[in-house]
Amino acid sequence: MIDWLTADIDLDSVPLHVGIIMDGNGRWANARGLHRTQGHAAGEPALFDVVHGALDLGVQWLTVYTFSTENWDRDTSEVEFLMQFNVDLLERRRDELDDLGVRILFMGDVDDDRVPQVLRDRIRSAEELTASNTKMTMVYAFNYGGRIEIVDAVKTIARGVASGSIDPDTITMDTVSNNLYLADMPDPDLVIRTSGEQRTSNFLLWEAAYSEYVFTPVLWPDFDRHEFARCVGEYQTRDRRFGGAVDGPLTDGDG
Ligand code: IPE
Ligand code: IPE
Ligand code: MG
Repeated sequence: MIDWLTADIDLDSVPLHVGIIMDGNGRWANARGLHRTQGHAAGEPALFDVVHGALDLGVQWLTVYTFSTENWDRDTSEVEFLMQFNVDLLERRRDELDDLGVRILFMGDVDDDRVPQVLRDRIRSAEELTASNTKMTMVYAFNYGGRIEIVDAVKTIARGVASGSIDPDTITMDTVSNNLYLADMPDPDLVIRTSGEQRTSNFLLWEAAYSEYVFTPVLWPDFDRHEFARCVGEYQTRDRRFGGAVDGPLTDGDG
């Protein structure tokens, strides 16, 4: 029994892993005559409401896209704001997440020279503090790009081939999966994108090969646990076939 839940969802088939492309902060701010950065700030309560909602529903993995490898192309002032915002966010929310039993992991190029040292330190300490938590893993896709993630996996595998530890003929899809940033992360079952855009923007390209996508027009700062639950409900109406045939009267073997 979850007291806030109004959406009609089956708690026995909640997705194990949900990814979210948190989009629309700038448009939310512009619509109110505010600066884009105020839209990012307004996204923080939305994110933490969703964390509480996901915990209540029993989601095991929640991956949120916080900064893409392409987001460096934005104005310096916005990029600087986002770096500092992430420092502040980790300081403000680290203990709360720890108390909730959430393990924090970062996925992406945290050691990029463009990432301020103070942020790298906060990231490492948040990961260390929460390393043994087991209620839910929250992955921050930060300075993350799906293509560079695959390139990095290819480089690691190529080094193994060059050193003789990997026979090229034995390379499988699992070899690639095992060399992605978080080898233990299950593939996302559901990817939600807010703000009405319908594209991946380089999010979890390999991992989301068979994910269900739910696109909602809600701008990220207006998103909350209720809309999250509604998206889970929409996911539950989908027929995940993984390449199989649709069940029907003309399927072979049905008599
Ligand atoms: C998503 O909101 C947050 C980041 C990409 C960091 P946007 O900043 O992309 O907001 P819009 O798409 O311009 O409205
Ligand atoms: C994707 O949103 C990245 C994040 C949400 C962090 P963008 O706003 O950067 O994507 P595009 O530019 O609309 O494709
Ligand atoms: Mg955007």
